[in-house]
Amino acid sequence: MSFRTIEWRDDKVIMIDQTRLPAEEVYNEYADFQGVAEAIRGMIIRGAPAIGVAAAMGVALGARDIIADTHESFFRQLDNVCDILARTRPTAVNLFWGIERMKRVARANGDKDLNSIRAILKAEAISIEQEDLRICRAIGSHGAPLIREGATVLTHCNAGGLATAGYGTALGVIRAAHEAGKKIRVFADETRPWLQGARLTAWELMKDNIPVTLISDNMAGWFMKKGEIDCVVVGADRIAANGDTANKIGTYSVAVLARENRIPFYVAAPISTLDLSLRSGDEIPIEERHSNEVTHLAGRAIAPEGVAVRNPAFDVTPARYIAGIITEKGVVRGDYEAGLKRLVGQ
Ligand code: MRU
Repeated sequence: MSFRTIEWRDDKVIMIDQTRLPAEEVYNEYADFQGVAEAIRGMIIRGAPAIGVAAAMGVALGARDIIADTHESFFRQLDNVCDILARTRPTAVNLFWGIERMKRVARANGDKDLNSIRAILKAEAISIEQEDLRICRAIGSHGAPLIREGATVLTHCNAGGLATAGYGTALGVIRAAHEAGKKIRVFADETRPWLQGARLTAWELMKDNIPVTLISDNMAGWFMKKGEIDCVVVGADRIAANGDTANKIGTYSVAVLARENRIPFYVAAPISTLDLSLRSGDEIPIEERHSNEVTHLAGRAIAPEGVAVRNPAFDVTPARYIAGIITEKGVVRGDYEAGLKRLVGQ
């Protein structure tokens, strides 16, 4: 891949600015955790695994800058850093997973001097980023066999290299099938209101020379009915114990359309996206974003001023619509409750 989504360089966090793609490929530098928190909130970086990595790097920056004479003061301030990062976006569980992992590592090394703890946290954040890349490749290799030669794959939103440390989850499956020599094509839903499909998925697939066709969201059903789509692969922001899956708004409609047209609908996600503490998707918190994402397009009003608006950023697809959940440890099908538990060794 010819871009880096996020990296730790010279004690700063560097991110490609996803609000400016595809027009400009600009890399922002963040020198403190507040900047990272703002970048997550402002969608400079987005996508569940990528914001998990960003949050972990944010914790490492925060830890580096804490001024403390005692361990007690250091850990109190570290909790505050974590709380601020945790308040950025509510749905993708990877954010909380990344923060929790950093807290756990800090606590496990609580007997060391503060500079050693800071260094350990920096190393942990960097290894979360590197692991994510390996995990995406493993998801790709488990998922690629599900994509047949010559298939047209529909995807929604961006679950690609831009949504992870690189390679992607849903797009990881697509990349792996493409790398295996299969002649596949992708249909990318534009994904209103934020246009992750048009702006990001189309951009990164074109960069990799993977054939991609952009459609607006309301066209997916028609192409399915005409027999032009062979399968759907999407990412996930949080998967409950029963397999219900939160992903970008519009995913549920795609899943229902896929069922109606007897097209397999797959979810690709790392184990860090599982939240087995939630029994079903009803318990997943859904982010509501600003109304101007709906009333405006590229800064221009497309609706009458003052109109009432709703803008949920995610929806939940019931497990019964999902043909398989593709993870780095394999594909879970059928009884998700048992299969997901087995996967995490519970
Ligand atoms: O609001 P976003 O752009 O962060 O939403 C992203 C998605 O819904 C992705 O499909 C999901 O995070 C999976 S990314 C591998």
